[in-house]
Amino acid sequence: MAPNRPGTAQNSPKSHGNGPKSPPLELGPDLPSAAALDRWLGEPLRAAILPTRLFLTNKRGFPVLARPHQRLLVRLLRLEVQVVLWGAPHHGAKPLGSYLQYLEYLSQHRPPPSAYELFARGYEDYLQSPLQPLMDNLESQTYEVFEKDPIKYSQYQQAIYRCLLDRVPEEEKDTNVQVVMVLGAGRGPLVAAALRAARQAARRLRVYAVEKNPNAVVTLESWQYEEWGAQVTVVARDMREWRAPEAADVVVSELLGSFGDNELSPECLDGAQRCLKAGGVSIPCAYTSFLAPISSSKLYNEVRGCRERDRHPEAQFETPYVVRLHNFHQLAPPQPCFAFRHPNPDPGRDNSRYRRLSFRVGVNTVLHGFAGYFETTLYGDITLSIRPETHSPGMFSWFPIFFPIKQPLTVRAGEEVAVAFWRCASPKKVWYEWAVTAPACSALHNPTGRSYTIGL
Ligand SMILES: C[S@@+](CC[C@H](N)C(=O)[O-])C[C@H]1O[C@@H](n2cnc3c(N)ncnc32)[C@H](O)[C@@H]1O
Repeated sequence: MAPNRPGTAQNSPKSHGNGPKSPPLELGPDLPSAAALDRWLGEPLRAAILPTRLFLTNKRGFPVLARPHQRLLVRLLRLEVQVVLWGAPHHGAKPLGSYLQYLEYLSQHRPPPSAYELFARGYEDYLQSPLQPLMDNLESQTYEVFEKDPIKYSQYQQAIYRCLLDRVPEEEKDTNVQVVMVLGAGRGPLVAAALRAARQAARRLRVYAVEKNPNAVVTLESWQYEEWGAQVTVVARDMREWRAPEAADVVVSELLGSFGDNELSPECLDGAQRCLKAGGVSIPCAYTSFLAPISSSKLYNEVRGCRERDRHPEAQFETPYVVRLHNFHQLAPPQPCFAFRHPNPDPGRDNSRYRRLSFRVGVNTVLHGFAGYFETTLYGDITLSIRPETHSPGMFSWFPIFFPIKQPLTVRAGEEVAVAFWRCASPKKVWYEWAVTAPACSALHNPTGRSYTIGL
């Protein structure tokens, strides 16, 4: 099972695809610019040739590499590129074995992997269909994976804590009971976070745990019976249809996908907005998706391999994938795409959106698609993010999303890549459509949701 938001596997973990590999990369004494190196490391490299003449001699007469070559080697090893040592020994009496020992030393003394890297190990470039927790009922193991995240729930607890302190003045702490509704409670981790926040803030709560998945409701009921008691009411309903017995001061939810709105948080929370008092708070109160153009022959070939007999021959290119991006080159920083706020300040407006984004690319390259991320504000300055620049440290609940394009597009250094993205909605489903409009026009991907939709 994949470590986060597991969906349907589309390729196998650690499959290295059947796509073409780049020829070996031969390192020279002068390395190219950082941008050129980034570009190379986005190629499906299998081997790098390291001539012995590149080695320097240290004080003890042993072969060593200069810092820039060391750094490059560490990046190549992270991509599991084979290193081929080439040439005769150049260090007097030192045999070829001393070069190999040095490479072994570099490999073993790499910076240790982060918690995120450890968690994601084995899932690099592994394509998954995004989850659809509204249309499908998630399995218990899926919730179990969510619940392992060390950061997500502590951020929620902190957000609820701050919100309770803001809403209930000290002199009302014994009389004012805040009504908190956890919408999409799953097996209850956000209910537990709300109860911890109330203890931390010394404020009183009455909690409704609303969940439409009957399997998760069983777990909620057992928590309610054994731990939470009368303070929590379990409601086995779809939040969009439930008629609440009283209005909420605070609604808490986590209905976010790797692209923010792609698990239909906007539709669910709009449907439940009537449960919220005027002046009530939603945690999260806002979220925004982000897109960045990427080059990755590896991912392109993996997507190409996802062709299925009973689908349109190009349907696999009209579908987004949740994936731990690994062997890729991001061509420009991510830019904001679709933004949503809760409570919705304009409930009359539907949740379809259109956005055109344009990115300046600095190297000659090939465009294979777009990486998608999200950021959310839970409350005040408490956020969660998977955008690389602001990624919540140690949080591994979400991998990025990848929107492929059917035909790779050549891009020259200095050219602009422009893309148009639509979020389309009908009464029964939501879907994305996308098309590149510069430097050349691509086909419109997924028109009318013919290859991929998210069920309401
Ligand atoms: C991403 S899971 C999060 C579960 C839990 N809050 C957690 O953090 O582990 C979203 C949950 O919302 C539930 N859900 C989605 N849409 C819903 C709706 N319209 N009404 C009630 N529950 C819903 C799903 O069944 C799922 O349990």
